[in-house]
Amino acid sequence: MNAFLQTAQLYDKVRSVILPAEWSEFAPDVDAILALKREKNAVILAHNYQTPEIFHGVADIVGDSLALAREAMKTDAEVIVLAGVHFMAETAKLLNPSRTVLIPDLRAGCSLAESIIAQDVRLLRQRWPGVPIVTYVNTSAAVKAESDICCTSGNAKKIVESLGVPKVIMLPDEYLAQNIARETDVEVITWAGHCEVHERFSAADVRQVRAGHPGVVVLAHPECPPEVVAEADFAGSTAAMADYVERERPGRVVLMTECSMSDNIAALHPEIEFVRPCNLCPHMKRITLPKIRRALETMSHEVTIDPAVAEPARRAVERMLAVH
Ligand code: 13P
Ligand code: SF4
Repeated sequence: MNAFLQTAQLYDKVRSVILPAEWSEFAPDVDAILALKREKNAVILAHNYQTPEIFHGVADIVGDSLALAREAMKTDAEVIVLAGVHFMAETAKLLNPSRTVLIPDLRAGCSLAESIIAQDVRLLRQRWPGVPIVTYVNTSAAVKAESDICCTSGNAKKIVESLGVPKVIMLPDEYLAQNIARETDVEVITWAGHCEVHERFSAADVRQVRAGHPGVVVLAHPECPPEVVAEADFAGSTAAMADYVERERPGRVVLMTECSMSDNIAALHPEIEFVRPCNLCPHMKRITLPKIRRALETMSHEVTIDPAVAEPARRAVERMLAVH
């Protein structure tokens, strides 16, 4: 049977966002990846920003950073392929160190993770003695290792408030920190890191979308500048935005975030109109079906973490997961 027919059921899920001719190109890799997963006892964890042929075609688990971390910890599979960026693969390895964790392209980085190194965190601790350091998961394991606790966009407010202190340092996303500061009485000291995808949205974009598309519901990721979040109808993690659409079923919606998010939800809801001033994340887009196939065929690139860094980094992530 040819690969298109073999994968016809999967194609049904994405037919509203992928043309048949495109799927013909994807099908041989999808088919091969499904067989490789069985052969290698592997699971594919895919972030919400992965393209629909990955998200709906080969992923076993999809979600935001928090969900992927929790699922990585729980899986019995011997191999975890992280279809996402490097910090997510490191987090998976921290939480399930006996598994082989693969990232299909080592260059899948993140502008936030690049904005800070461990030495910066040590200097901040000297400058603000006794002030807890809350570190966004979008950081290297070395930065997490210098931190008291991690957070994601899905739990940042809860984590900050769980500490029961009047002041925290929140690294490295300045906008996420400012957006959280507006929601709590805790004073938040920020760092000047930005997501290169979300920093490009402006309040003018929101107004333009509203003017051109009456009745549109505006959802924004909290990595967007505070002026964008202030003008949005709802702000939340990628999973929270997907849940919002699922729950409220707006007729017309815009997601001020990475482009594939809209494609992945639109595939499930062809009746919803998605307005699309979105931005692409070049790091997320480094992950492709051929690279996932190659990762499983060659068992590369394996993610490893220096044990001296892994232990304190794991503690910071586990403290986060222990907060309910
Ligand atoms: P979420 O945790 O909301 O999915 O966002 C993280 C992110 O920006 C991944 O690049
Ligand atoms: Fe990093 Fe932004 Fe890309 Fe997410 S979308 S991986 S935060 S650069």
